Amino acid sequence: MAAFMRVLFLGDLVGRSGRSAVIEALPGLRERYRLDFVVVNGENAAGGFGITETILVELLDAGADVVTTGNHVFDQRETLVYIERYDRLLRPINYPQGTPGKGAGLFKAANGAQVLVINAMGRVFMADLDEPFRAVEKELEACGLKTCADAIIIDFHAEATSEKEAMGFFVDGRASAVIGTHTHVPTADEQILPRGTGYISDVGMCGDFNSVLGMDKDEPLNRFLTKIPSGRYAPALGEATLCAIAIDIDDATGLARAIAPLRIGGRLSQTEPKFWTET
Ligand SMILES: [Fe+2]
Ligand SMILES: [Fe+2]
Repeated sequence: MAAFMRVLFLGDLVGRSGRSAVIEALPGLRERYRLDFVVVNGENAAGGFGITETILVELLDAGADVVTTGNHVFDQRETLVYIERYDRLLRPINYPQGTPGKGAGLFKAANGAQVLVINAMGRVFMADLDEPFRAVEKELEACGLKTCADAIIIDFHAEATSEKEAMGFFVDGRASAVIGTHTHVPTADEQILPRGTGYISDVGMCGDFNSVLGMDKDEPLNRFLTKIPSGRYAPALGEATLCAIAIDIDDATGLARAIAPLRIGGRLSQTEPKFWTET
């Protein structure tokens, strides 16, 4: 193994625009940056709502190692059934006991490392699931950093930045990275926390930013103005910006050595992690 592993985490794919951009770009990104491990949040991949089995397979074939989700995980009813057949599709771990699927798994990266991925969901301004901090704690107790896993990546799918920051500090020094998802808008607070955990409040979406959170603007705007639904939400179909975060994880400690955004295409400013281009 090299002295560190390279992980790319892509935020919520929204509809066809985000989905096809990721499927098209991922094989090239894996090769260009010699990625060891790729996580994709796919909760909005199917027309903005959930993920079908066909789309899941396309993402895995394109080079995603794990697909995480969030509050939209079961928007496509078929997911309730097929999720049991795919270890690589995670749903938030703190859903009630008996919910189909799993919220965590141990996966082998391209460099041979064992990566524990945990998907958890916040409770502030969201559904009242089980308490996420204790749910994550239980996983870390069962499979700790460097005792069981070479790296631990947590997708914390939450609305409130306060809850996400709290989760970051809760696992600081015990996980490689806490990556926030769900708000679809990238934050500029990527950092390595004092004890070594890589952190960002929200990675942002992979979707068309000429939109409201990836959805065509007309219906959201209409609902804010009139409070009366007049149609369905439909994903915006313009060119997507891929919002991702790049993390280098130290082989010796399992902690983050570097973290920076990678943004490609569409309307947002483009950015590429220096530590991936200068080596
Ligand atoms: Fe989302
Ligand atoms: Fe969400």
